[in-house]
Amino acid sequence: MSEQRRKILVTSALPYANGSIHLGHLVEYIQTDIWARFQKLRGHECYYVCADDAHGTPIMLRARAEGIEPEELIARVWKEHTEDFAGFHIGFDNYHSTHSPENRACANLIYERNRDAGHIVRKTIKQAYDPEAGMFLPDRFIKGECPRCGAEDQYGDSCESCGATYAPTDLKNPRSAVSGATPVERESEHIFFRLADFEQVLKDWHRAGHVQPEVANKLDEWFEAGLADWDISRDAPYFGFEIPDAPGKYFYVWLDAPIGYMASFRNLCDEQGIDFDSFWQPGSDTELYHFIGKDIIYFHALFWPALLHGAGFRMPSAVWAHGFLTVDGAKMSKSRGTFIKARTYLEHLNPEYLRYYFAAKLSSRVDDLDLNLEDFAQRVNSDLVGKVVNIASRCAGFIHKRFEGRLAARCGEPALYDEFVAAGDAIAEHFEQREYGRAVREIMALADRANQYIDGHKPWVIAKEAGREQELQEICSSGINLFRVLVGYLKPILPRLAEQAEAFLRIEPMQWNSQAEPLTDHVIEKFKPLMTRVEKDRIDAMIEASKEDLQAEAEVTAQPAADSPLAKEPIAETIPFDDFAKVDLRIARIVRAEPVEGADKLLRLSLDLGGETRNVFAGIKSAYRPENLEGRLTVMVANLAPRKMRFGVSEGMVLAAGPGGKALYLLSPDDGAQPGTRVT
Ligand code: 2FM
Ligand code: ZN
Repeated sequence: MSEQRRKILVTSALPYANGSIHLGHLVEYIQTDIWARFQKLRGHECYYVCADDAHGTPIMLRARAEGIEPEELIARVWKEHTEDFAGFHIGFDNYHSTHSPENRACANLIYERNRDAGHIVRKTIKQAYDPEAGMFLPDRFIKGECPRCGAEDQYGDSCESCGATYAPTDLKNPRSAVSGATPVERESEHIFFRLADFEQVLKDWHRAGHVQPEVANKLDEWFEAGLADWDISRDAPYFGFEIPDAPGKYFYVWLDAPIGYMASFRNLCDEQGIDFDSFWQPGSDTELYHFIGKDIIYFHALFWPALLHGAGFRMPSAVWAHGFLTVDGAKMSKSRGTFIKARTYLEHLNPEYLRYYFAAKLSSRVDDLDLNLEDFAQRVNSDLVGKVVNIASRCAGFIHKRFEGRLAARCGEPALYDEFVAAGDAIAEHFEQREYGRAVREIMALADRANQYIDGHKPWVIAKEAGREQELQEICSSGINLFRVLVGYLKPILPRLAEQAEAFLRIEPMQWNSQAEPLTDHVIEKFKPLMTRVEKDRIDAMIEASKEDLQAEAEVTAQPAADSPLAKEPIAETIPFDDFAKVDLRIARIVRAEPVEGADKLLRLSLDLGGETRNVFAGIKSAYRPENLEGRLTVMVANLAPRKMRFGVSEGMVLAAGPGGKALYLLSPDDGAQPGTRVT
């Protein structure tokens, strides 16, 4: 290989240690894994590290609710996570935990160096405190009425109903989601990182092309808004690392989470004798890439590079954000069974189907990615089973039966083989640029060519004609060789299929460039089907099982855990039937749904009540694409007094529910309900 051997460190975001891995997470792990595998196949020294993100209040409270120590919870989840990742062939070189000695050491070092360089300040701030639970409350653990529009049950940071953002102290009638007590204000000294010290460094860094163009635009907005000091400490009780010079104060989980990348790598270096410093010192010629979701750009494109720079380490070569996963055009939904856990998927379907489907739809942009289940089955069946594997199955039988498994001394059409090899550079460039969809398209175009070649030469006809033995062997050998090149190109995406193909072909593990010459005069194994079709009933069974997962979770939390919806949202006082009867609930059909300019969470819905049309604002934007709502039935409160909102008058309210009391998912009556009829 003419290219110099690069030294590359790659990471995916660290999943929290209190929840299962689901298909939404897997977009990122599969995206990163393909890239890391590709680099390794190119012969580069590439390490892919990750870890569980084990600290923070939710993890502390979850352990408490289960009656166990946080250490026990995170050990259990670590095991589940690593098994799930292995099931999807995510080839981490190391999977560590942020609750590790290496992370404590790295976090202390980064903190102390920043402090000694003057980038840390202490300030006394007022914060909500739960006197019953004896703890300060993160914003998301305080609920109350919106200070602007009066909507009830809003979180301490923003209003789902009118889109206002505010401080938790602004909420009316606030209460703690931990104990239900009314929070009091309490002073406490906190430790802050002076992000603004790095404004110029960060501007220079992102202008030098270390982030995607869409992300650079977002960063410009943040620079314009001004970089505020970042509170990196939390008071006890907190599950995390105590700050070295501040007893009783802990590093905020988001401080030591990205440091977990470094710590996981440190742990790997210690085990394998890799030179840690060469990867982290400033001016290093090694490369450092972080794959992340679009929701955590602020942390990775501002705080993290600034912390690194302030501590005298190199900054990332790039931070690459991807979009969110939707399933069948909508946000993953537990009740529809599209909130699919990694484990549930693996119990029903081959992980390489999903790896392939995601790859086919991934690009270098921040766009969301839709898993359309029908398209998924159709695409895997037609591309992988119908095109790629089919090439081998069409040729291998003749090689086995007629030539004792031996490939011909020369290939049928060398020019075609050379064309396949020559296509490798463009395909490699697509992988390098994270344009996997393009890579897949080119590979499938080659697969079509290979099938056309076989169709054109009709080995099944030649096989019946006397004296055409050599021709038959050469054509089939050619087909097998074209198959080999294709599998080599697909290897970053389909490592297991590639391994099986290598066994079938009796060859050493393929590298990116090891297919330059065809296999000739070489004995292969008898062909066994390398991949079977996606069956619709398996998909249906997976969806049903995902609904059952939800049921099981509901049963486990029958005693509300501290972070369960019931604990956050205790059932309200009973009311007389007459009060209930005053609420006029009607079936409504959504005739139009559209985003509301200036409101992040709202959709404007036009509802048909069987002749009358109502305009209603609903805080469901994060869960739905507007166009997917049109035509659907829902239930609305039809006799709610109209409310004047910033964006117009809302003439009623639709019924919706979601985690933590957030009104996210619409209640949907079965088809057949008539718009306008009363719900009783
Ligand atoms: O958003 C999350 O799921 C975080 N646990 C990601 C952390 S990524 C990195 F900073 F560690
Ligand atoms: Zn509001």
